[in-house]
Amino acid sequence: MTRLLVFDSGVGGLSVVAEIRRAQPKAEIVYVADDAGFPYGDWEDAALTDRVVGLIAGLIAGHTPDAVVIACHTASTLVLPPLRARFDLPFVGTVPAVKPAAEQTRSGVVAVLGTYGTIRRDYTRGLIDQFAKECHVRLVGSGNLAAYAERHMRGEAVGDAAILAEIAPAFIEDDGRRTDIVVLACTHYPFLLPQLERLAPWPVDWIDPAPAIARRVATVTGGMRPGAASGGGIALLTSGKAWPPAMTAQLRRLGLEPQEAATASG
Ligand code: DGL
Repeated sequence: MTRLLVFDSGVGGLSVVAEIRRAQPKAEIVYVADDAGFPYGDWEDAALTDRVVGLIAGLIAGHTPDAVVIACHTASTLVLPPLRARFDLPFVGTVPAVKPAAEQTRSGVVAVLGTYGTIRRDYTRGLIDQFAKECHVRLVGSGNLAAYAERHMRGEAVGDAAILAEIAPAFIEDDGRRTDIVVLACTHYPFLLPQLERLAPWPVDWIDPAPAIARRVATVTGGMRPGAASGGGIALLTSGKAWPPAMTAQLRRLGLEPQEAATASG
């Protein structure tokens, strides 16, 4: 069986786990949310790199995965090179879906919605230079949307006005052309999609990167450790705390048994 380590700052990576489960129902998944470091959006680059590389080193030693999925744009746009340099394992990252957006837009106006960290990265600007030169790309940083997704997943309501304030800058009119694609460049955001669709000033296509990431994971792990497998896994928080009760059923639906870090290592 294939054992995957899937890592995010919070619950966002579960949107990726859901797609991995669809593509590889038998994979064993160790899901780790760095709740002690959440949110990643405001971290300074060097500090975030050190933190994530250090955590991943400990998790690789403790859980011996076959591949690691950094299910977080804010971290992936920074830490993939140092991780690949240090560990001889396949790493799959999540980076803003600028290329598919440029291919799919009809109006030529697209928005990339992500954390402030992801939006200001050279990596993100490089993707635009490489794939979307012909488009008008609006980079929209959101300081709160990931935290709203965390609240939503815990069963707490998030007001429409608060969400609209975060997404409104993504909707622009340029010379009679309007935004027609919004790239969800944070793995937390797909959990808010019904609300995002309802609140959008006009209909757009929202690009959720998770299916493409799951396909990539299937490609890099194809043929690894074939055989009978559980399709199970565990979920833990870097704080060592127990998962909030509202999350338990959601984790189990994804085949993840919530655990406290002290009992989950090794
Ligand atoms: N889910 C993460 C991402 O894709 C980060 C959210 C955060 O820590 O603010 O960027």
